[in-house]
Amino acid sequence: MAVAENFDLAHLGAIELFTPRFEESLHFFRDICAMREVARVGDSAYLRCWDEYQVYSLKLTASETNGVGRTLYRTTSPEALERRVAAIEKTGLGHGWREPEVGVGRSFEFEDPDGHLMALYYDTEQYVPDDEDRPALKNQASAYPGRGINTRRLDHINYLTSDVDAAGEFWRDVMMARESERVKLDGGGYGAWWFRLHQKSYDVVYSDDWTGERGRFHHFAFAPDSREDVLKAADICLENGIHIEYGPYKHAINQTFFLYVWEPGGNRIEFANAQARLILDPDSPVVEWSQAERAKGQAWGMKTVPTFHTHGTPYVENQEEIDRRAMEGGH
Ligand SMILES: [Fe+2]
Repeated sequence: MAVAENFDLAHLGAIELFTPRFEESLHFFRDICAMREVARVGDSAYLRCWDEYQVYSLKLTASETNGVGRTLYRTTSPEALERRVAAIEKTGLGHGWREPEVGVGRSFEFEDPDGHLMALYYDTEQYVPDDEDRPALKNQASAYPGRGINTRRLDHINYLTSDVDAAGEFWRDVMMARESERVKLDGGGYGAWWFRLHQKSYDVVYSDDWTGERGRFHHFAFAPDSREDVLKAADICLENGIHIEYGPYKHAINQTFFLYVWEPGGNRIEFANAQARLILDPDSPVVEWSQAERAKGQAWGMKTVPTFHTHGTPYVENQEEIDRRAMEGGH
């Protein structure tokens, strides 16, 4: 049964993404996805989607490698923040409090058991539109851009991990997120694990990294308005030379309609439409899939692309060779 602490986290707030091809990645997010750049600090551009109430959701940082930096999660209250910080500190994974930065108040930094850097915060700045992006309706964060993919908001993040069980237990028992679905491996343990913070069917996901590396990034997803927008996103990516890895198609697990692409820096980005599916039952039991059920493929039968468990960022040595071998059927 759900307990009060299951509602301590509000939502995924922002993600730092590293790219070795900064200008091309910026072009992808700003011009193709239709995000707006709201700040530039050092080697980082801060970008936002049009219907986000906070100042930014993506911090794009020029780097020698690709991969994910710190992920920010907002709590539902200052008390919830204190509760979760106390729980994290008990695990020894806490790094301490960090000073406020663009759009976000003080935050508590920590790492998950696989070494992914994260932070929790409550204080935030509401985005104030200016003459360029003032919306027609006052209940909308900023004007609909009407160009490119028109990504509406950041939706979820999926981390690769060397130990799905350890990461999943941390999110269930320390972060107090609720499980929505998971893949049980024949040999014991889990191959992937999905967590939800509220009624959306997932916000945080961990998947098995077949390379065995720690702390890698699988993808994050933007939510466009509709399933049709995901199809259009595929056409727009095709026209712009963006590598399409998989989809458009419908997931079996959690049933979102998806498209996966690699942005110019090599990081996997998803456009995912959740359609009307929400989990309203606060005590909804976790849905468990066997390896055999998973092997049947996605919702309508197409097999999962093999690079899903090999391609991650930062790249491992021989990443291209590993991805190629996976596509040919061996790993
Ligand atoms: Fe996803």
